[in-house]
Amino acid sequence: MRNLITFTVLYCCMVCFTSGSSLPYYYMDELCNQTLDLSSLHAIRLKLSRGVFYKDNLRCSLRITTMSFSYRFMAFFKHFDIQSSVGCTRDWLELHDGRDKSYRYLPGFAGRQCGSIMTSTVKTTSGNDLFLYFESDLSYHQTGFDMVITQYHYEPCNNYEFTCSNDRCIDESLVCNLQNPCGDYSDCDVYLAAGAIAGIVIASVIFITCVIIVPVLICRRRRIQRQPYGVINTTPAPAYGTQGYNASYNQNPNYPTGQQYPNL
Ligand SMILES: *[C@@H]1O[C@H](CO)[C@@H](O)[C@H](O)[C@H]1NC(C)=O
Repeated sequence: MRNLITFTVLYCCMVCFTSGSSLPYYYMDELCNQTLDLSSLHAIRLKLSRGVFYKDNLRCSLRITTMSFSYRFMAFFKHFDIQSSVGCTRDWLELHDGRDKSYRYLPGFAGRQCGSIMTSTVKTTSGNDLFLYFESDLSYHQTGFDMVITQYHYEPCNNYEFTCSNDRCIDESLVCNLQNPCGDYSDCDVYLAAGAIAGIVIASVIFITCVIIVPVLICRRRRIQRQPYGVINTTPAPAYGTQGYNASYNQNPNYPTGQQYPNL
């Protein structure tokens, strides 16, 4: 029990501590047709727009480049909500694995992307550029997207870097930022701790339900059944003189035959 409390406190501290080092936000519609050079940033959050809904009639591209040639990007969506249409012809986002639209689509995001279902799997670029293109029409602008974009390179890692289980090197400052900076959750035990705590919470809820709530409900049911006037016979009694008539109808089975219902 003491271990559990220590564990929970440590976990909470960790979450508070790491949420302080949250990633800087960038807004695609404010960087329209520009290049965002991540020379001094290891990871960012990219949202389509600063407002709740994206603007209509947008035609906007964004090229993002890593700090040096050996670096790559990994990216995943935390949120995705772009007006859905067949073939994504109204509003859509394209992700290209290179510095402009002529490059192939980013593996895992083939073609135009729209709708509100999007995998949160981490995808990676093969080079040091990621190119995004977004277009919207005049109607139904929705909430857009929110991505985490992290740069990495492969081993050997430098001494100011963290080596992930998948051999990726990420900046030490990204470790435990709760944004999966390794792409395989190997940066931080917090994910394990979160899983363990979720397990403990679910187990406790089940335990409390079984041990406290269910017996209370059973007791209450028993008490209701034991109340003498609570039982009401819903089957209509056959009329007097007809087949099946029984003199004991209309009498409470809890009372001796012949005794009448008290006036309720
Ligand atoms: C960005 O470029 C597109 C052409 O690809 C153009 O239609 C659009 O107006 C440009 N947006 C801005 C804000 O300059």
